[in-house]
Amino acid sequence: MNCLICLKEINAKTTSGYHSKCLKDLFGTDKIDVTLSESRRDLVTEMPKQTHGFSISGVQMKCQLAIEEGKLELVDSGGQFIMKPSPEEYPNVAENEHATLKLMARIGFEVPPCGLIRLEDGHLVFVIRRYDRNFLDGTKYHQEDAMQALGIANSDSGLKYTAASYEEVLTLVKEHGGDAVAASLFDRLAFSYLVGNDDHHLKNISFLYEPSFRLAPCYDVLGSSLYSSKADSPMALAMLKGGDEPKYYAEMGNGFYSGSDFVEMGARAGLRASALRSRLNRLVKSVGVHASGIIQNSFMPGEAKSEYEELVKQRIKFMAA
Ligand SMILES: Nc1ncnc2c1ncn2[C@@H]1O[C@H](COP(=O)(O)OP(=O)(O)OP(=O)(O)O)[C@@H](O)[C@H]1O
Ligand SMILES: [Mg+2]
Ligand SMILES: [Zn+2]
Repeated sequence: MNCLICLKEINAKTTSGYHSKCLKDLFGTDKIDVTLSESRRDLVTEMPKQTHGFSISGVQMKCQLAIEEGKLELVDSGGQFIMKPSPEEYPNVAENEHATLKLMARIGFEVPPCGLIRLEDGHLVFVIRRYDRNFLDGTKYHQEDAMQALGIANSDSGLKYTAASYEEVLTLVKEHGGDAVAASLFDRLAFSYLVGNDDHHLKNISFLYEPSFRLAPCYDVLGSSLYSSKADSPMALAMLKGGDEPKYYAEMGNGFYSGSDFVEMGARAGLRASALRSRLNRLVKSVGVHASGIIQNSFMPGEAKSEYEELVKQRIKFMAA
């Protein structure tokens, strides 16, 4: 039995499903009742008809949670946590997002505390602490997504895929935050490719402005291409300005990006190619070391684990080119 927060083994006698330390890390206390009376059906089909859930943008159903008198409760606003159940048509997306973000945290990306909670009907839902407010006093921090930062009106939901390329976002980030912040976005884009996160669109890149311009912690990262059609592009946005594809992808026509394609994209945004190559090497090595263990310890079903491991192995191979 593994902990629903850290995915590491838990003493067989523990009935809560969590290490006490992990509960403290996520919820600030281990004296907490995490049982929700709603079923997944309530959450994904009934709740959207009510008011819960609509205060956070995004496609997938989600609600806010707050700790009230030692118990987790669904709230309409001001919650300290966001909860995402798996949609009915994509079971285990919650387990996948949890495992993917734990992998990111393991290899050094900034990830808010997150975990899974088990509903009474047995389904697991993903819970993540909000990074846009102070956990203790609720003060809000201003955040903007890349659409807003680029000054693009959110008039049509398709624009988050088409209004700009990664090269343009990297250029903007370099202008506002300098090379180091742009390089950390570069790492996140490469990570997305390595794990098959094909939904890294303009609203899944956000910025915080205090104490200075920086990337918001990681969110909405999962091996989503396990659920998409093989014909779909492996990345949500065009890599290069003007919609051009980088050299390897364009010439090979095999549907895979190589490491050299990522370096080409980053270099066009003004980052130093040799520095990008070493960042990629480090990242690929680190994903190679940690991905299988975390996927195997995760709560995804066995078949999904094998598919996910296979996907990561294949992407690592192409990234080395
Ligand atoms: N931990 C968090 N703290 C604060 N804000 C968050 C957090 N996670 C997500 N958000 C905000 O909520 C929005 C929706 O969340 P998320 O992207 O996870 O949902 P989604 O429905 O999967 O999105 P999509 O439209 O990409 O499918 C995000 O764009 C982000 O602005
Ligand atoms: Mg999103
Ligand atoms: Zn734990």
